[in-house]
Amino acid sequence: MATRCIDILLFLLPLSVAALTKCSGEQSDQYDDELSRLASEWYSSSERSDQYSDRLSQLTACLATAGVDNFTYPSADPTEAAASSFYQLLNFSIQNLRFAPGPAALPAAVVLPATQLHLRSAVLCSREAGYSVRLRSGGHSYEGLSYSASAPFVVVDLMRLNRVIVDSASRTAWVESGATLGETYHGISAASDDLAFSAGSCPTVGSGGHIAGGGFGLLSRKYGLAADNVLDAVLIDADGQIMNRDAMGEDVFWAIRGGGGGAWGAVYAWKLRLLPVPSRVAAFIINRPGSTPRIAQLFHKWQLVAPNLPDEFYLSAFVGAGLPESGEVGGMSATFKGFYLGPASEALSIMTQTFPELQLADSDCHQMSWIESVVFFSGLPEGSTVSDLKNRFLIDKKSFKAKSDYVRVPIPESDLISILNQLLVEPKAYLIMDPYGGAMDRIPSDHLPFPHRSGNLYAIQYLIEWQTNADENNQNYIEWMRKFYEFMADKVSDNPRAAYINYVDLDLGTNGWTIEDEPAIDRMANVKSWGESYFLGNYERLVRAKTKVDPDNVFHNPQSILPSNQINGYLA
Ligand SMILES: Cc1cc2nc3c(=O)[nH]c(=O)nc-3n(C[C@H](O)[C@H](O)[C@H](O)COP(=O)(O)OP(=O)(O)OC[C@H]3O[C@@H](n4cnc5c(N)ncnc54)[C@H](O)[C@@H]3O)c2cc1C
Ligand SMILES: *[C@@H]1O[C@H](CO)[C@@H](O)[C@H](O)[C@H]1NC(C)=O
Ligand SMILES: *[C@@H]1O[C@H](CO)[C@@H](O)[C@H](O)[C@H]1NC(C)=O
Repeated sequence: MATRCIDILLFLLPLSVAALTKCSGEQSDQYDDELSRLASEWYSSSERSDQYSDRLSQLTACLATAGVDNFTYPSADPTEAAASSFYQLLNFSIQNLRFAPGPAALPAAVVLPATQLHLRSAVLCSREAGYSVRLRSGGHSYEGLSYSASAPFVVVDLMRLNRVIVDSASRTAWVESGATLGETYHGISAASDDLAFSAGSCPTVGSGGHIAGGGFGLLSRKYGLAADNVLDAVLIDADGQIMNRDAMGEDVFWAIRGGGGGAWGAVYAWKLRLLPVPSRVAAFIINRPGSTPRIAQLFHKWQLVAPNLPDEFYLSAFVGAGLPESGEVGGMSATFKGFYLGPASEALSIMTQTFPELQLADSDCHQMSWIESVVFFSGLPEGSTVSDLKNRFLIDKKSFKAKSDYVRVPIPESDLISILNQLLVEPKAYLIMDPYGGAMDRIPSDHLPFPHRSGNLYAIQYLIEWQTNADENNQNYIEWMRKFYEFMADKVSDNPRAAYINYVDLDLGTNGWTIEDEPAIDRMANVKSWGESYFLGNYERLVRAKTKVDPDNVFHNPQSILPSNQINGYLA
């Protein structure tokens, strides 16, 4: 009982700070004052020190015995808290400021394993001491799932597990799961000029979470998702077994490639298939400002063109009234990002034939090596070089809320106008359209857990971004997004309405029903709702894989696949 009280205290403390923060005018000062006051009350409670230090000392003793030398926990002296390496390491990979400073509940410790065995010990020691584990690779989870939890937990941050070992002869690489995409691309280009990998464009995204959810990028119309190009993996399960593909079996190996991070075990490393690219590729980013009808016309034409281009061509579209490229706030514009596996002259002639309305000019279209194109699309500041891809710190962090949909039938131009009208009143919001088709169309829907293949023209992502949580309109932005999502319902895929697990969205439903008294029927509806949005017909196979590899649900978060014993009856 005593332990329970402490657990509740542990996660109520920062919550009450957050509640105070919301209503006050001078958030940061008040936050600090309140934090100090609550922290000192908390630290001086005698019950806390006994129970908390018991559990924490069990954890630290276990880690020390196992030779894990890099872990920190909140300082016992609250005046040191902000400067402590605990806070700095925790903060470093919080990529959505909606969950900062300090997530709703602080972890008991942040552990940084440097070897496979450290990672195994971090999992086992946390489990033995009664903590949940949150694995964090790049920390880009849209809902902060890699560094927050509602029960006492430990963050196992993989930033030191970032080795990339390339074997150009066999066109493969082993990548530790803490390596970011930028570190991965950098490592590949250092070993070979004509090999690449197919994954997302933001260099600070972690391979751990990204590949676990699929991983779409500029090469996906040619080569599929990141997960489609994983040949083997090393997985550490809840009992500390270290398994490769053969040992884990095909169901589990299938599940970890797209079934979502944090649900199966700790992936220590991925073996990737590297992909051939020509020595020169073409790239352009152009912004077209204009009236709402004009932008709607471009958007409409884009939906007909982009999914049907040659596999070598990737052309995405961004629209909004506050796109950074447009240079002015409040002006509607569309930005098109084009990438072509071939010379600029060919890219230009394909655009001129298929999309003359874009008016792409010779001077817009640049020719460069593949790795230079990675820098070009990375969002890094102008003048950045290939070695900047290794920088793990995300510059210009913001608070954001996002959601996703799939489009299988082009949206009529009149609907596009009403969509743009919504964006006109909320310039903090914008849409990103990623073209499918090509290889994405040819890979069967059950090849991996990621099911959004044939028949999808494109994925839409809706984002709303703001500077910090000190913004008193925080909740309004989130509400705007929810209304916009409702507004989109009749324009996108339905039955079920599909979503991409890497754009994780807790509004779709959670496992929160494990709270004992929810009626069984609601539980099933809840789990089914989010599970089928992300995985469509692949959901049940994921449950089977989960039941096999983690029947006690040790690796979990509010939207992780549950073992069958926890969703009784649903699979009947
Ligand atoms: C700025 C930005 C750009 C993005 N661009 C793209 C894009 O171009 N294409 C695309 O497809 N997606 C993109 N995403 C989405 C991104 O793929 C997901 O957010 C992804 O899950 C992030 O992985 P991570 O390792 O950085 O995040 P984390 O928050 O560290 O992890 C995400 C989830 O995976 C789990 N996890 C992490 N590592 C492991 C591991 N080793 N073993 C088991 N579980 C693990 C975590 O516990 C968490 O549940 C982008 C996101 C952001 C914020
Ligand atoms: C732990 O690792 C991080 C990241 O490499 C480093 O910044 C920090 O100094 C290390 N701490 C200790 C105690 O070794
Ligand atoms: C954590 O990060 C947030 C956002 O970047 C910042 O405001 C806060 O000061 C940081 N806290 C510490 C202790 O570094």
